[in-house]
Amino acid sequence: MKAFGTFQFRRFSDEHTATVLSWIQSEKDRVLWSGNSFSEGLNQIRFNDHLKRKDLFAFQLLDSNGHIQAYGEIVIQAIDRATLCRILVHPKMRGKGLGKFFCKRLIQEIKDWDLIREISLNTLTSNKPALACYKSLGFRSEAIKKKSRRIGDTWHDLIFMSLLL
Ligand SMILES: CC(C)(COP(=O)(O)OP(=O)(O)OC[C@H]1O[C@@H](n2cnc3c(N)ncnc32)[C@H](O)[C@@H]1OP(=O)(O)O)[C@@H](O)C(=O)NCCC(=O)NCCS
Repeated sequence: MKAFGTFQFRRFSDEHTATVLSWIQSEKDRVLWSGNSFSEGLNQIRFNDHLKRKDLFAFQLLDSNGHIQAYGEIVIQAIDRATLCRILVHPKMRGKGLGKFFCKRLIQEIKDWDLIREISLNTLTSNKPALACYKSLGFRSEAIKKKSRRIGDTWHDLIFMSLLL
């Protein structure tokens, strides 16, 4: 974690939109990252519209040169419940602990609000890095919805997880 000590956690600024979208190279990338959110196609206009949602707070992690290295959202579900959504780490930075570091910052942000008592999320059971990341942060499996998302010709199961604060 010390390696990311100089990284800055901030609200997402739309100057980084093109960079974030450049990390999504295929239908598989899109579905793993965002499920059905952009099933009509992902582009800057749709993404910027998405960011206008009133229940959504987007965050970024910048390195010491001001380059974005991770993106993610907190979505409010109720006065005491929030969801982590669309977590995305720069492809070249994956598997180095950054996803976990970033999610910890998102969880800390939610804790700082001092309102939310439960954080939920969902991911595909086939998304091993995401699943490992969330499990190691203490998220517990709540339910599995079989054959919920399609990538190409293959259906994938969706797992719902939660963390009590
Ligand atoms: C999912 C994602 C955010 C995880 O971030 P990351 O920086 O790659 O993951 P980390 O290096 O922080 O690793 C977190 C945990 O996953 C494990 N892990 C990482 N890559 C893995 C892999 N390919 N297979 C299995 N486990 C893996 C790590 O060992 C670590 O577990 P530990 O704490 O028990 O050791 C990142 O891979 C990503 O952006 N993926 C594409 C978008 C996506 O799928 N987002 C999730 C939407 S729900």
